[in-house]
Amino acid sequence: MEKTNSDYHQPVLMDEVMNAILIKNPGSYADCTTGGGGHSLVLASRLLAGSQLDCFDRDPDAIKAAGLRLASFDFINIHHRPFSEIRSVLNANSKDGILFDLGVSSHQLDDASRGFSFRDEQEVDMRMNPEDPLDALEFLQNTDAEELAAILRDNSDFEKAYKTATLILEGINKLEGPLYPEFFRTILKQVFPGKPHKMNSLLARLFQAIRMEVNSEKSELKQSLVDAVHILQSGGRLCVISYHSVEDRIVKTTLATFEKECICPPEVPVCNCGRSFKLLKKVNNKPLIPTASEVNANPRARSAKLRIYQKV
Ligand SMILES: C[S@@+](CC[C@H](N)C(=O)[O-])C[C@H]1O[C@@H](n2cnc3c(N)ncnc32)[C@H](O)[C@@H]1O
Repeated sequence: MEKTNSDYHQPVLMDEVMNAILIKNPGSYADCTTGGGGHSLVLASRLLAGSQLDCFDRDPDAIKAAGLRLASFDFINIHHRPFSEIRSVLNANSKDGILFDLGVSSHQLDDASRGFSFRDEQEVDMRMNPEDPLDALEFLQNTDAEELAAILRDNSDFEKAYKTATLILEGINKLEGPLYPEFFRTILKQVFPGKPHKMNSLLARLFQAIRMEVNSEKSELKQSLVDAVHILQSGGRLCVISYHSVEDRIVKTTLATFEKECICPPEVPVCNCGRSFKLLKKVNNKPLIPTASEVNANPRARSAKLRIYQKV
């Protein structure tokens, strides 16, 4: 069943994001992960005439849903592009606020035909943009056990990563026909016998690790955060919501380099980086997290962390 716009995705930390990002009105903003347009809709409805909002998503379903939902705002431009391309659309020093709400939308998880969820018995796919070249099966057919084990460790701290990776790739070599979640369940039962109570959490971590590779999530994020700093104008705000420790670490470490004046490595005796001032400062030292009542109403918000930075 096709979802209506309003149940495409329940946006998280709405008040916190609006309080952080809306520093100028009319102003110029970018939503790099538009999804169903939940954050963009509230932002747009608060913006005065003369504002501008650029909305990006790599998922055509999101572009369609957000297009319908945001159609009444003539100052919104919707771009079907990955956020690693924001710099080819947006000028340097042009935006008052940029939002990244990372990870997957509820629509991607709940629509079985998208192949993101281990709870469905639909073919596993995991591409946010179904036009991208490699789905999960093709990705696995093109990797080796060392690489897959490193991915499982790095992307989700997976225990017994090498054994799991080896069995997955042996199975993939013999697989005839489509890839279903049951394939991974069978392997995890062999690697972790006697732990049926842990099966869902193991599957969730395994799927997260593979999904991050299929969509190049880490490299997309690192590149785009750097680009966002260039695109913000002085005083502008960068708001990033992450959902797990790997994403959050990338946000902290990538943006930390902009919080320093000199970024030369310690062994360089005399500064040669030319950075004479900081480009960013943190607005709050600790990330903002959802209230208990938000988590109660929307359990998918439970791991969200909002980091807010201001361009100097
Ligand atoms: C958590 S949802 C965002 C939900 C949105 N804030 C809302 O209110 O509906 C994350 C969205 O980011 C998109 N996304 C993830 N990585 C992306 C990338 N590299 N480029 C563009 N969009 C991306 C996903 O397709 C998904 O629609």
